Amino acid sequence: MNSVALQSGHTLEVERAERLSDADLAELAEATDAAIIEGGGFGWVEPQGRAALERHFRGVLLVPERELFVARLDGHAVGSALLVRPPRNNEAQAFAATLTHAYIAPYARGFGLARRLVGKVEERAAALGHRVLNLDVRETQATAIALFESLGYVHWGTHPYYARVKGQTVAGRFYFKTLEPGRGRATGDLIDGAV
Ligand SMILES: CC(C)(COP(=O)(O)OP(=O)(O)OC[C@H]1O[C@@H](n2cnc3c(N)ncnc32)[C@H](O)[C@@H]1OP(=O)(O)O)[C@@H](O)C(=O)NCCC(=O)NCCS
Repeated sequence: MNSVALQSGHTLEVERAERLSDADLAELAEATDAAIIEGGGFGWVEPQGRAALERHFRGVLLVPERELFVARLDGHAVGSALLVRPPRNNEAQAFAATLTHAYIAPYARGFGLARRLVGKVEERAAALGHRVLNLDVRETQATAIALFESLGYVHWGTHPYYARVKGQTVAGRFYFKTLEPGRGRATGDLIDGAV
């Protein structure tokens, strides 16, 4: 696990989680509900409570195509993100993966954890051989949009009827970023070129 100590004395860590302790589950549930209440809890609109969210995270760990990344501030789990790989039957899209469910609890924002979290997911996706990382985000999530665009994600389309949040229809922005796995042909040659 690589951790970074800030001048402020805080420590930042992001790791891929293959198991979660009871303390991790409780902290992730708290972080998720805090993000939902603030307005951006990866799809959830209403707080879910600890038991439901602990079941959610336990379930995520059981799904083979999903990898969970946990962000920690001073050792405590304060956010997470998922790398979703295509199912084995989807050979045609095996080159692409999706980054989803990224959030940091409001009490841990502004330290650079989301930037590290996204970087870690990209690194892992590239290491697994994926050439493209897709993501989508409600157009009301201005901080996330600023973050993804600063990291080089390309906005290729907007879905006008993407989500319904508290009685309002919200558009969603769709992005992709190409990745270089560091072996084989360069991604630009591979995806743009002929066979
Ligand atoms: C988007 C989110 C994950 C950012 O988390 P974070 O840990 O605070 O982000 P970071 O500290 O890594 O900052 C990354 C960038 O976000 C932007 N940013 C962070 N805080 C900001 C703020 N208060 N106002 C404007 N931009 C801000 C900056 O561009 C920053 O870039 P910098 O590193 O050059 O300063 C967090 O705000 C969040 O969970 N939002 C709700 C959920 C969501 O929108 N998820 C994404 C869709 S799935």
